[in-house]
Amino acid sequence: MVVLVKFFLFVSLITVFVVSAIEVNTGNDFNQYANNYVGEGIADFQEATSFEDLVSDVQSDLHSDVQSDAEQFLDLRRRGHQNKPLKYEVYDEYNKKNKGFVSKPFYPSPLGGRIPNVWQEAYEKARKLVEKMSITEKVNLTTGTGWGSGPCIGNTGGNKLVPPFCIQDGPNGVRFADFVTSFPTGLAAGSTFNRGLMYLRGKAIALEHKRKGVDVVLGPTIGPIGLKAAGGRNWESFGNDPYLEGIAGRVTVEGIQEEGVIACVRHLIGNEQETFRQVGEWDNNLQASISSNIGDRAMHEVYLFPFADAINAGAGSVMCSFNRVNNSYACENPALLNGLLKDELGFQGFVMSDWGAQHTGVYSCLAGLDMTMPGEIFNNWCSGKSYWGPLLTRAVYNQTIPQSRLNDMAVRILAPFFVVGCQDFNNNSPPNFSSWTYHTYGQEFPYAHYGPILQVNWHVDARDKFTEETALQVAREAIVLLKNDGRNLPISPDKGVRRLLIAGIAAGASADGFNCKDQKCVDGVITSGWGSAAVNNPYVITPYEAVARKAIDLDMVVDFTRDSYSFETVDEASDYADMAIVFVSADSGEGYIQIDDNYGDRKNLSLWHNGDELIKHVAERCRKTVVVVNSVGPVNMEKWIDHENVVAVLYAAPLGQFVGKAIAEVLFGDVNPSGRLPFTIARKDDHYVKIVNELPEDGEPQDDFNHDIYLDYKFFDKHNLKPRFEFGYGLSYTSFALSSLKISEIQAPTEFLPRPEKYLSIYKMCEDDICDPEDALFPHDEMEPVPGFIYPYLFNEKIVSVDEFEYPKGYTPDQFNDPPLAGGGLGGNPALWDILYTVKAKVTNTGAITGSYVAQLYVEFPCTHVGSPSRQLRGFDKVKLQPGGKSRVHFDLLRRDLSIWDTSSQQWIIQKGTYKIFIGSSSRKLELCGEIEIETNDN
Ligand code: BGC
Repeated sequence: MVVLVKFFLFVSLITVFVVSAIEVNTGNDFNQYANNYVGEGIADFQEATSFEDLVSDVQSDLHSDVQSDAEQFLDLRRRGHQNKPLKYEVYDEYNKKNKGFVSKPFYPSPLGGRIPNVWQEAYEKARKLVEKMSITEKVNLTTGTGWGSGPCIGNTGGNKLVPPFCIQDGPNGVRFADFVTSFPTGLAAGSTFNRGLMYLRGKAIALEHKRKGVDVVLGPTIGPIGLKAAGGRNWESFGNDPYLEGIAGRVTVEGIQEEGVIACVRHLIGNEQETFRQVGEWDNNLQASISSNIGDRAMHEVYLFPFADAINAGAGSVMCSFNRVNNSYACENPALLNGLLKDELGFQGFVMSDWGAQHTGVYSCLAGLDMTMPGEIFNNWCSGKSYWGPLLTRAVYNQTIPQSRLNDMAVRILAPFFVVGCQDFNNNSPPNFSSWTYHTYGQEFPYAHYGPILQVNWHVDARDKFTEETALQVAREAIVLLKNDGRNLPISPDKGVRRLLIAGIAAGASADGFNCKDQKCVDGVITSGWGSAAVNNPYVITPYEAVARKAIDLDMVVDFTRDSYSFETVDEASDYADMAIVFVSADSGEGYIQIDDNYGDRKNLSLWHNGDELIKHVAERCRKTVVVVNSVGPVNMEKWIDHENVVAVLYAAPLGQFVGKAIAEVLFGDVNPSGRLPFTIARKDDHYVKIVNELPEDGEPQDDFNHDIYLDYKFFDKHNLKPRFEFGYGLSYTSFALSSLKISEIQAPTEFLPRPEKYLSIYKMCEDDICDPEDALFPHDEMEPVPGFIYPYLFNEKIVSVDEFEYPKGYTPDQFNDPPLAGGGLGGNPALWDILYTVKAKVTNTGAITGSYVAQLYVEFPCTHVGSPSRQLRGFDKVKLQPGGKSRVHFDLLRRDLSIWDTSSQQWIIQKGTYKIFIGSSSRKLELCGEIEIETNDN
């Protein structure tokens, strides 16, 4: 659809401008600099012929032209309220003309602050501030100042009313800082299946960020969800199940935000592999980032599900991902950002781009992006070139972007600060560290080689007893005991173990140390995967040190070898040992680092460093071989798992700095293992979804998520595939019994959701006077421009020009008056969070030692309307019991827990029929079973 306004496209006239210490010095004329920079020709910021033309056209022609395009969708949305199935094409098949999956338009970007009783006070405060700001001040909130232009990973420009904001990775602790804790990873937290501990971890992580002066934590990671076993970043998030991921995401957000720091949940959405995630990263022939093609039902029941939880918990920010979603980039995908996130899930905070994941200016803005990070265009770091900054100011001045949109962006950015307890911005502590050096003094803008030498690090110790104890406890509870034949664990001299061998590279430190940048040293114990979620270890006690210390205290003799290839030493030492503990590993990480042809994603699921052979050599010679797998996800264990001498196996996700201590405590029985697998370990690699790693001819890879809603164990169950170890599996040194299942109805379910309240009327914010662009020029009399720094100021007064601006298909500026039926509250329709049933059961510790048990609740849905997985996790409760001790486990079944997403009527419905409720010790060991019969009688 083309609006009949005359715009002209700024054409690139000037050659590439490169910032360097030589070309840009302090004396440079800013306009010269600005002109060069504009000369790059950033294609989608166009300029209007005249204000009058533009205003009248936007108000009249725009509407008639777009009406027909938008009609079908608007109609669909309205009719969703009638609770009747519709005959429209389903969401993911909208406009099937080009490729299989095409995202539909959804405009305009919903204004925040319109949900009754939600964040109203915060919005009032934020609006008051924003109303006092000029356009450039508002733009300054939306655009990062540029890579390295500030102490944090992401920095916004401040103004007289608000300070610059410090935005920092990440989900496992403060990145690029000293005196912080390296926490166990998300995957480790997920393995604990301990909701309370996950919450404390969130709190502890936030406390350390706060003490370092961080305003926004880039975490938790709840996407990837683990669709692909080899996916590079699965270790950042909590495990391969939407419910587990949702609960963990929710309580982590609560923990973080209660400490006064904003959580930015990442990555929305479908970032299930690193390969091809971003043009310009590895493969020069890649023309567009991989498109994660996700069907409507899977989108709701799997991928968006945990985001709904995090938003319901009040998350202030969401990060959109690098990949495309149904063929539109996630950060300019209106169906995703405007439709699903802001309209349906009622998200009231701000959407931040992943670092360089923005690909257009106006389009991304209209599609719902609120903040671009780090400010520049991808791979143009330190260039000062941005899709926003000055160009956003210009687009607002020439009214291509309505002021109401900019106001909404600014208000959305500020409102979460008030939600997390900020009173005003006068008492904010600025960052006391620099992401760019660990030295005390450094240049103010190190990448631009500009500015004075200042104190940049105060080395504030952000750790305390609480944060460290929490990290250690998560590490302990994350460890999963997979095998313990003959009860050889815990280790004890009473069981005839006097000569202990510790073998394997993963038992000790990498030759490169514990802290090569972003944890890419992989030849030792793994504290985390590599990438932006990695944290500098303040110290690491290795498994070798921790295990040896305990063994020595028990008067054992201890031998150690790293030998993984020649086996000379290993063979001899294994012959001699009463017990051998073999530490093996597999690592992965983020796509910008490649290690041994693992492009972030793992190239296979085998153990690294010849681990299989090492285990076999040891097991051939030592009758009591214990294997400790320290890895970022499942590994193929088939070569050795059934070996009769492999008597015990532990799985440890990356556990942070306390990895050694936690593993040793479990091995020697100071801690009874209570972790559960947050994913399935398969017998065959073919049973997992593969990484897409072949580039098609057009350079635009497509990734159809054709496992649909059957993620992980649900796929194995559906196809009757026997896993090696199933999701939720984990042993203990004691035994438990379950009994006395009791299900009580709290609220009678209805088939359809109740209609949510109407949106509040639109709050009309004061609009700025944009008659005189001179007001928005760089204030040369007040300051000098810093090279590479992204300012919000116009390059010149010429903001109007002649050409046509093509608004996106389906664009309309008219806001909706009603939320969709599935919406109307934080995370969706408020009724989704109603408790319909409670389920209770009794757990008894029938063994001889204290231990913790994870009771898991799975639901089998009826297939009245559509088929569903035979078991879906819908609750977990962990209890610690003395020998003989009994306790109740308790589960709340929410409306959402029993709902399916109905693609035709675009709402969550509860089907009539029998719901089987299972309580058990894993997804395949279900000890108790009950039923709920639902006879809905909606009108
Ligand atoms: C990652 C994000 C991270 C950002 C800043 C990106 O490469 O995908 O998760 O927050 O870098 O470090």
